[in-house]
Formats: sequence, structure tokens, C-alpha cells
Amino acid sequence: MTDKELQELLKKMSLKEKVNQMLQVTGGFFDGHQVAMGPMKEKGFSDENVALAGSVIGSMGAEKLKKIQKEYMENHPHKIPLLFMMDVINGFKTIFPIPLAQGATFEPELSERCAAAAAKEASVSGLHVTFAPMVDLVRDARWGRVMESTGEDPYLNCLFSEAMVKGFQGEDLKEPYHVAACVKHFAGYGAPTAGRDYNTVELSKHTLKEFYLPSYKAGIDAGAAMVMTSFNTIEGIPATGNKWLMRDVLRDEMGFDGVLISDWAAIEEIIYHGYCADRKEAAVRAAKAGVDIDMMTGIYSENMCSLVEEGVISESLIDESVYRILELKNKLGLFENPYKDADEEKEKELILCQEHRNLAREAARKSFVLLKNDSVLPLKKWKNTAVIGPYVDNRNLMGAWSFIGETKDTATLREAMTERGFAQEVTFCQGSPILDPGMKLEGFTETQGQEVSQEECEKMLQEAVKAAKDAETVILAVGEDRLQSGEATSNANIQIPAIQMELVRRVSQVNDKVIVVLFSGRPLDIREISEKAQAVLQVWMPGTEGARAIVDVLTGEYNPTGKLPMSFPYCVGQVPVHYNEYSTGRPHVPGKDKDRFRSKYLDIPNAPLYPFGFGLSYTRFAVSPIELSHETMNKNETIQAVVKVKNVGEVKGTETVQLYIHDVAASVVRPVKELKNFCKVTLEPGEEQTVTFMITEKDLQFLTENDRWESEPGEFEVFVGTDSSVVNCAKFVLVK
Ligand code: GLC
Repeated sequence: MTDKELQELLKKMSLKEKVNQMLQVTGGFFDGHQVAMGPMKEKGFSDENVALAGSVIGSMGAEKLKKIQKEYMENHPHKIPLLFMMDVINGFKTIFPIPLAQGATFEPELSERCAAAAAKEASVSGLHVTFAPMVDLVRDARWGRVMESTGEDPYLNCLFSEAMVKGFQGEDLKEPYHVAACVKHFAGYGAPTAGRDYNTVELSKHTLKEFYLPSYKAGIDAGAAMVMTSFNTIEGIPATGNKWLMRDVLRDEMGFDGVLISDWAAIEEIIYHGYCADRKEAAVRAAKAGVDIDMMTGIYSENMCSLVEEGVISESLIDESVYRILELKNKLGLFENPYKDADEEKEKELILCQEHRNLAREAARKSFVLLKNDSVLPLKKWKNTAVIGPYVDNRNLMGAWSFIGETKDTATLREAMTERGFAQEVTFCQGSPILDPGMKLEGFTETQGQEVSQEECEKMLQEAVKAAKDAETVILAVGEDRLQSGEATSNANIQIPAIQMELVRRVSQVNDKVIVVLFSGRPLDIREISEKAQAVLQVWMPGTEGARAIVDVLTGEYNPTGKLPMSFPYCVGQVPVHYNEYSTGRPHVPGKDKDRFRSKYLDIPNAPLYPFGFGLSYTRFAVSPIELSHETMNKNETIQAVVKVKNVGEVKGTETVQLYIHDVAASVVRPVKELKNFCKVTLEPGEEQTVTFMITEKDLQFLTENDRWESEPGEFEVFVGTDSSVVNCAKFVLVK
């Protein structure tokens, strides 16, 4: 349709038809599983409104969605097609590593490929929109949704945000195999007080704009078709009703002109926040903030017509929202082809195809972070190895947001090792249940419980001790259950379940060659694990091909390259901890403090256990001192920062060389370091390569006291190294 035709369509629609384009309901209303009565009626859903709804959440399958679309359009007065939307976060049926693991690859282009593959599988299954990427900056490992983000650094998050949007959407949404992306959760959802999900967010406007907004903007600048509101307040006003945030910032400053959708029932929740007295007021607040789609409440449907008739809301506000929704349908080509890519044959051909599996395995391998290795990895001799832990036979390696992926499609560690011919040489045993006795977890589509009795636990532990005693090497496959990270999974204690810690303790008492393969959706407190194990490989939630990828790394077939996208705290008391902190007026430099009145703890170090950007290899790299092309630069010049990187180990490997900048004095204090660039180098043993970074004025810009992104003259420090604790430093001056 042309814009003119869209405008004409809008003019033909009645107010009720327009208002219900702003309604999103679950597909159950259209396939007989849900009816607009009882509890659903109380939520404001009526048959009449549902029959005019503009979009559907949570249904999939080519045959099913084509049937829904056909029946819906036959009954719609203007034959306007439905939009089908779903959370395709880290894969559709082929599940890739969770986004935090993808962040650890430091390879945004890899995530672009993963998103494109996910879009292909989702689109042939009838979907038009995914509620991804989640680009919330995170600093607090108590918040379970860190697993959906790409970490604590604004620069890295911007690169992944852009890459994922491009991967999902491609160049043209009308083309096959693309889905519209939805940048979420706008804004600042990743900073809930005390790491407790849905809790208050207390950020200054400066901090919000400087650290949290850039990754949303990167996704919007990459063309994201949709943005989702966040559950939290910003400056005491719920985002979903926050005019300043949604009109002044999102629309005017960031230039977003796509569809703004509420998070699940978030329009109703602005009542519970204490921001609106009733549903009618919630409708007004959300509409005036510019929320176009009401996800899963009937508040818009039941109130908007009367609000327009009473003159409280102008119809032009409705038209603005409805036009954006129609535009999105038009961008997807749905007026010409309401079924878009839905195709049962293509589903069979593309879903879980070998190409996607290979990509999932590549992404998993590259996401693993080697945190410790006392020369025990790679494991050359598998004979007489005991593989112990609740992840030996656990098929669920996909993370909490992969309820479309199926465990039947995922190999276990035991199967992956058996495929490689290790079964004869290796003994396997569970060692412990994954959860502590009595622990219950709920996912979106299933629950997880621990029914094993204390006696049975003791029996499992003793079996593990025996296996460990008899073995030369132990691989301990332990970690969080997949449902221990994700939405509504905040934890005050960020360690693996106690029963598994008992397993680690007992096994390490009887064997001095313990390799821990650690599964988690978040950074954990792993002090004791690190102390007791000779090697620690962080594998996150690695997806459908994760187990095979783990074996690729343990054998040395793939030399690990992952780098931490989020600091691993020394302990939960240190949280939130992040590398790009401010100096404070009393910076603490271990061992150099003159007095005790410094910004530090009495009982733990300031430094995290493992810092942002950290990750070992099976080889070692040396980075030379930095050479700068100039000692000064003005705003339209550049400076080259040059280092030599050498592989000083015995095997080929890849290092991610990172460049950080510190603005020594500025009108607003600056972080002690800020990642501004990185470069991967692959070197043979003994090989050396020159790495040159171009530093531009743009790299020096920040949100100044004038509330503008600009640089300021003065001294800058440049750090180049292999993680954020780097001390290799050079200085230059930006002159006027
Ligand atoms: C959830 C999440 C959001 C998701 C939405 C739809 O509550 O906050 O990320 O996209 O509901 O499932």
C-alpha cells in the first residue's frame, strides 16, 4: 500500500475499529483456547474487541497462524491483517547461546548471523515481530534478566544492539525471512534497586542518558521497527505513562517514529505503581505518553472511545498510533500478502537445519570464557576421566527465554562425549541433583522441582566421591538451573545451589585435577569454585549445540576466545560492580593507600573476582607498551595507538585486544576507563602482529555539563590490553 492508501484506510475506519488496532491479545482467543469472558472479561476483553484486535502475542506455526489470519480477515470490516509477535530472544527452534553469552564473543557480527537464522525460522513459522533485542545495560548480577542482555558496557551493548536489529530485520522487512525487531525495555529496566526485578529504578537523568540510553538508540538508529516500554519508573513516573521519557526523549531526541508497545499488562500496572487512580486514567496517561499497543490488557479497548467522545483524548492521538501500526503492517507487506513467509514446507526445511546447528555450535564455542587454567586444559588424555555433575545428562542448556526450543533437539554432555568416542574411557555420574531439596522453580511453560531425598543426595555424593577417587581427572559439570536466571528470578545469593557446592567440595578433596564446566545465566560468586578447581570454563546457557561445543573446547579442538561482558563479583556484597566506575575523591589503590580513609571495604577487595573483558586462552599473549602517533590532537585530527601483540605460548590462539580511554578531568566526572574499541588477532605460536587503533574526537565525546555529547580539551589516558584491569597506558592531550 502507498502512504496515501494507508491514510485513506485510516479515514474509513470507525473509532472502535481504530482503538482495537491498539489491542494485543494472546492467540488463544483465536484458536478456541481462550474466551473473552470470566477473568478475561474483567481484564476488559470482549468478543467484539478481540475480533478487531490489531495483533497477537505468543502463537506460532505456519499452519496455525495462516488459519487464524484467514478467519480473522474474513471477518474484519476492512480486511486489515493481524501482526503475529513473540519472544524470539536467542533463537526460535535452533537455540543460540543466551545474549549475555553472545556478548562474551565480542563478535557482534556473529550475533547478527544468529539473529538472521532465528528470523528465518520464526518467519516461516508465521511470525512477523520478535520482542528482541533486549538491550538493557546491566551491572547487578542479583537481577536474573542480565542473561538477556549483552552486559555492562555501553559501547559493546551498542554494537550488539545494532547487529541484532540488522540480523532480525535485514535490509527490507518485505523480503522473505525477516522479522521486525523490538528494542526493549525502554528505559533503564536493567537497574532495579537491589537487583530485585520490577523494582524501582533510581537513575539520575545524566546517568540514564550517558550509560543506559545509548544501546536503545543504537537499535533505533539501526532501524528497529518497535520499542517496548519497561515496567519500572524513571524519576518516579512509570515508563509506560512517562511523557518525558516517551515523547521528549524517545520520539523527539532519539527520533523514533515506529511502534511503541507496552510490556505485558504494563498499562494496567501504572495503576499499581500508584500513578493512576483507575483504568480510565491509565488509558489517558499511556496514550498521552504515546504507547501505541496495549499488550494484554483491555484498558485501551474499554476506555478510549468514551475518552475521545468526552474530549479527554483527541482522536488525532488515536490516529497517530493506529497509523504507526498500519505502517508496520505495510512495511512487512502484509496488505499484499497477509501470510508473509508462513510455509509448512519451509518450516520442515529450515528449522534446526544443519547450517543453523553449525552456527549455534560456533556461537557457543566463541561464547565460553576460560577463567582459570592451571595447565590442565586442553584435556589431551580422556582415559580415566570422571565426568560428574547434574549437567552430565541435562538436556536443557537453552536458557529461560527459549520456551520454543525443545530439549529433544539438544545433546547432553554425555551424548556429546560419547559421539567423540570417549564413552569407553570416561565414567559418568550425576553426583547431585541440580537443585537443593525442596527448591521449586517456575518457567513460562514448565516447573522444575527437586524431589531427591537427603538420603538419595548422600548416596549420589558418595558415588561421585568414589568416581573422583578412581579417576585421574574430573570434569565437574555444575551450575545454575536454566530457570534460575531470566524474568522474575532475582537472587540475593548468587552462588550455585548448596548441594552442588557440597559436590565440588567433596570431589576436590579426593582429586587434584578438577575442571569445572560452569553453567549459568549470570555472573556468580565463584570464589570457592575457583579456589578448589584447577580450571574453570564459564559456558553460560550455551544453546542447542552447547554440549558439543563444550567438548570442542575441552579437547582443544577450539581454543577458547570468550571475554567477560559483565564482571564476576568477588561476592554478592560487592554488587553492583562494573569496570567503568568513577574514581571517587578517595580512590583506593591496593597497597598504595597512605591512610585508611579511602573508598574501599574492610573485608573484601574492590576489584571483582574476574573483570570485564577477561578471558584466558590455551596460549599466552604479550602486548607491548603503547606507541602514540602524536602527543596532542585537535578535534579534527586522529591519533594512532599502536601495540605489538605476540603469541608467546605453544598453540595457535585468538586474543581480543581492547582499547580503553580515561578522560582525566572533565565538566562531569568520567569513568576510570571506557571501552572504545577492540580487535581480535589470531596468531600462531611465536607470531607477532602490529595492532593499530585510530582514536578520533568522537571516541572522546561524553555527555557534558551542557547535556550535549561533545569532547572537552584536556589530558587523556589510553589503555591497551586484554581486559579492563589493564595498566599498559599512554597519555595525550586534546587541544582546543
Ligand atoms: C515479559 C517481558 C518482556 C516480554 C513480554 C512478552 O513480561 O518483560 O521482555 O517481551 O513479557 O512476553
